[in-house]
Amino acid sequence: MPFLLERVRDKNTSMENASDTQSAPGGRRNFLGLVTAATAAAGAGACLWPFLQSLAPRDSAAAHLPVDVDISALPPGQQIVVTWQGKPVFITHRTPESLAALQDAALTGRLRDGQSNDQQQPPYAKNWHRSLDPRFGVVVGICTHLGCVPAYRPLPEGQGGGNWPGGYACPCHGSKFDLAGRVFRGAPAPYNLPVPPYSMPSPTVIRLGENPAGQDFDFAGIQQL
Ligand code: FES
Repeated sequence: MPFLLERVRDKNTSMENASDTQSAPGGRRNFLGLVTAATAAAGAGACLWPFLQSLAPRDSAAAHLPVDVDISALPPGQQIVVTWQGKPVFITHRTPESLAALQDAALTGRLRDGQSNDQQQPPYAKNWHRSLDPRFGVVVGICTHLGCVPAYRPLPEGQGGGNWPGGYACPCHGSKFDLAGRVFRGAPAPYNLPVPPYSMPSPTVIRLGENPAGQDFDFAGIQQL
């Protein structure tokens, strides 16, 4: 079972209050649990995002606040899944080997939009690693074909034969993405996985929903979720 650690804290919310929120019956904690369970299930079979979305808390003002994620305990090669505005977000600590694979020219040629020319990420993530810090991948975990949740398949030998560089495999119709969320050619998914607006107020904190200073990226402007 993949390592799953959720340290989600709304901005300006104390850890004590966050714990209270997570221990409350119903609401967000249950939804986070559903996302976690669904992500685990995605490794073994299909998982439809619309189903999860229908269970998300509604009309919550907190859902629109930035979310701080502590990544200090996330080991290389592992991923956590958190929710942001009701969507699963994959945060991955990429290894030096996977970073080297992302820069392999042979890989880029196998991708539909290897240069991230489609607007599926903020301008500050339009680079070879599609992120602020190359070590940490941050993508919305919703397949751009029909909305399933792709499974994390980080090991090169884990999926797709000997030339699989590690990435994500959608359980519904076979779309595959690399560890930067870039979709492979020949897949039904038409676009790379979206990158949400985020900043890093410290090297070990990812703040989802808030751009870096001086940036004004609007997630509503992406081409396809
Ligand atoms: S929903 Fe992912 S390939 Fe169809």
